[in-house]
Amino acid sequence: MKAYYSTAYGGSESSVYGDLPDPSPGVNHLLVEVKAVSINQVDWKIRRGDLRFISGWKFPRIFGSDFAGIIRETGKEVMQFKPGDRVYGTRSILFNRHGALAQLRAVDQKCIRVIPDGMSFEEAAALPIAALTALNGLRKCSVKAGSHVLINGGTGGVGHFAIQIAKARGAIVTTTCSASNRELAISFGADEVMGYSPGELAATDRKFDAVMDAYGKMKLEYVCHLLKRGGTYASTLFIPPPYLSIILVRMVFGKRLTAANMQKRPEDWKELEKLFAEGSLKPFIENIFPLEKAADAFDLAEKGNPRGKTIVTVPEMKLPNL
Ligand SMILES: NC(=O)c1ccc[n+]([C@@H]2O[C@H](COP(=O)([O-])OP(=O)(O)OC[C@H]3O[C@@H](n4cnc5c(N)ncnc54)[C@H](OP(=O)(O)O)[C@@H]3O)[C@@H](O)[C@H]2O)c1
Repeated sequence: MKAYYSTAYGGSESSVYGDLPDPSPGVNHLLVEVKAVSINQVDWKIRRGDLRFISGWKFPRIFGSDFAGIIRETGKEVMQFKPGDRVYGTRSILFNRHGALAQLRAVDQKCIRVIPDGMSFEEAAALPIAALTALNGLRKCSVKAGSHVLINGGTGGVGHFAIQIAKARGAIVTTTCSASNRELAISFGADEVMGYSPGELAATDRKFDAVMDAYGKMKLEYVCHLLKRGGTYASTLFIPPPYLSIILVRMVFGKRLTAANMQKRPEDWKELEKLFAEGSLKPFIENIFPLEKAADAFDLAEKGNPRGKTIVTVPEMKLPNL
């Protein structure tokens, strides 16, 4: 099969487009003909070697967590899915596991779902990590109708889903982004847009019930400044949690700090699919690259300030059993 794979940790200089042996699925696995893959920050961070102690040392390695495609084969113990099903999902690429940037991926049945009607492969691949993380953060912040919410970094992968989900819940949404992305943030449904420079964050006298930090690195002084007493801040980069800060901020200011993490709970998938079906959640895909140009997708995700989601499409494979 054709794959975009890495021969060592690093950037695009350590990765090539070429041939690798086809994967062989286990009894609980499905063999998926991959159609689309989205590039998340975690993909280029793992490719770069940031998590090498848990990511593993085996190369060549295929990266890419979120994917969508068509089932070609099912293992003996797979009852829920059948060949021909259009599916999507995400699977960790830690512990030497291969990812999805290839024509075929063997994946555990627990990691996938049938693509809802009306959703393209590209849209399906765009959802998992970013939308599940956005949903998790908003839930932890108890965002509901009438909540005043600030989404920090509202035009990236996580942020643009967070704006749409918060709006669907009836919240009043303010978002931060760079000046050039203002109109885009409004198109996602933001009621108000502001800059994220320290000066702009410090200057505002607005107070929010919740701050969902999609960017993940808002300074504690601004978190405390922007949150109402009793409000909650959820960050995508809250690892490891600074326990002392959590306790102090809670005791002194009555504000809660927590993490927004992707969880693959069936009810979360269902909520996203329902929002998509209602037209309240639509992945914004600005850049699509073919598999042989996956290096450009990684470079954009790592250095190019992408907007919304970046997708890699995978060329069709001629299989003997088709
Ligand atoms: N914990 C988890 O499970 C989980 C899951 C997914 C992602 N994450 C993490 O969440 C972060 C965001 O992921 P992503 O996929 O949304 O990334 P992304 O698509 O690259 O988007 C990053 C966003 O950050 C904004 N930004 C840049 N500098 C900023 C600043 N100083 N203040 C506020 N916003 C700023 C950008 O806006 P402009 O372009 O307008 O500047 C852009 O919208 C990453 O660190 C990622 O690793 C964690």
